Amino acid sequence: MPKLKLPKPPVPPLPKQLNPRPRRPGGGPAETPLDMAKEAGTSVVDWVDERTSLSGAARWMMFRKVPRGTNWFYTLGSATMFAFLSQAVTGVFLAMYYDPSPTHAYESARYITNEAFLGEFVRGMHKWGSSVMVILVFLHMGRTFFFGAYKYPRELNWIIGVVLLILTMTMSFTGYLLPFDQRSYWATIVGVNINGTGPLVGPYLSDFLRAGPEFGATTLSRFYAIHMLLVPGAIAALIGAHLYLVAKLGTTAPPWLKAETDSELREEVA
Ligand code: HEM
Repeated sequence: MPKLKLPKPPVPPLPKQLNPRPRRPGGGPAETPLDMAKEAGTSVVDWVDERTSLSGAARWMMFRKVPRGTNWFYTLGSATMFAFLSQAVTGVFLAMYYDPSPTHAYESARYITNEAFLGEFVRGMHKWGSSVMVILVFLHMGRTFFFGAYKYPRELNWIIGVVLLILTMTMSFTGYLLPFDQRSYWATIVGVNINGTGPLVGPYLSDFLRAGPEFGATTLSRFYAIHMLLVPGAIAALIGAHLYLVAKLGTTAPPWLKAETDSELREEVA
């Protein structure tokens, strides 16, 4: 296929807020406490930026051109990311009280709900948030599929997305065991057995999840480690790669949007 040579988009201008404020006539000190606070904030940002040049990267990431016709469906990826962040924050607070031992897990979860300050609220956020994240990730995947965003040059971002989807499901599966009540215990045995029926890797996978031939104490700590260290770390890293590619490649225009003039696309092909 002949290579299209599209005009390079101009570098986005520095947003107004990042420009240094002109000095007041006379160069006197800032007048109100609010002015002083604003100036202090600007100096801190300037100080960091002078040493890191991070504002360039931030500008590249955040101030991008988006195609005409971009609509609410394009917010589903960010919504998924915020669901993940909410899970991470509430999860940290739950981890302060949760004890992943077979004798204490149920009691520690009960303590969180009934006694810890705002425990029921935080545990509820985490529990409902997990369903919200799963629903959002599917809706976001549907949006990218129906808008054809999986096609060249975004195939790699689709593949990263598939891994993110699997990891999101892994979070739900491993989290379900943690309250260690009758329901979560037996449901997880069923889930691990289903994994075992997979072709080739199935038996190894279920052995790995059980942490041995029997479902027991080691299973719970393994699920906990996967749930709160391994998978969230991988999700965070992959979201970074996913967003890098979104910023680099730009978002796909809605499928019903036509190029403004034919010559814009035909120039090099003819
Ligand atoms: C934790 C899960 C995920 C997060 C946090 C996430 C986040 C995002 C964000 C913020 C965007 C840019 C805004 C947007 O288009 O909505 C995006 C774009 C994209 N995502 Fe995801 N995503 C996730 C999962 C997935 C999955 C499961 C797929 C598909 C299998 C996928 C495929 C894509 C593609 C192809 C784009 C580019 C869209 C375009 O160019 O218009 N993502 N993602």
